[in-house]
Amino acid sequence: METLDAIKARHSTRNFNGKPVSDEQIVKILEAADAAPIGMGKNDTLQITVIKDPDLINEFRNAGDRDFSYGAPVLILVSTKDDEQFASLNIANASCVIENMLIEATDLDLQSIYLWGFWHFGLPKMPELQAKLNLPEGFSPMASAAIGYADDAPAAGGHTGIAHAII
Ligand SMILES: Cc1cc2nc3c(=O)[nH]c(=O)nc-3n(C[C@H](O)[C@H](O)[C@H](O)COP(=O)(O)O)c2cc1C
Repeated sequence: METLDAIKARHSTRNFNGKPVSDEQIVKILEAADAAPIGMGKNDTLQITVIKDPDLINEFRNAGDRDFSYGAPVLILVSTKDDEQFASLNIANASCVIENMLIEATDLDLQSIYLWGFWHFGLPKMPELQAKLNLPEGFSPMASAAIGYADDAPAAGGHTGIAHAII
């Protein structure tokens, strides 16, 4: 796929059908993650966790009042090192990593969605579940990509767009 075509074809899916994603596909998505721009070269402040064990992913998706993962068979979580001074850099870095993964997933004909709410509002209230992520000391979940297949994938295009000014 041409780069711009992949960018425009990416859409959020909220009805994954559970069809598995192969390890080869996950490796390519991680390659895209590794190629993301990282502010101040702070790569060591980021940690990626691929959650694909069905029992574990079920524990996460059943933890809240609804399945935040929309049935995705793989969640690729980006965690960042706790540091008040660099909080906004952490958010920006994680977003670059996740967007790269979403675009690569699109190029692999997979569906995806960026997930932030559960990691920010839900999981911090569930320390026992968070411990199952085995994150390095001092790291907290920031956001994830959910990856998989859907029966009725959203049509490409039709993004709302953002105000542009060229001056
Ligand atoms: C930073 C960020 C956080 C998001 N968090 C969530 C989320 O927690 N749950 C959810 O259903 N969608 C989430 N989304 C997906 C957006 O709702 C979605 O991207 C937006 O509606 C535009 O639709 P599109 O992705 O199909 O272009 C998030 C997107 C971004 C960029």
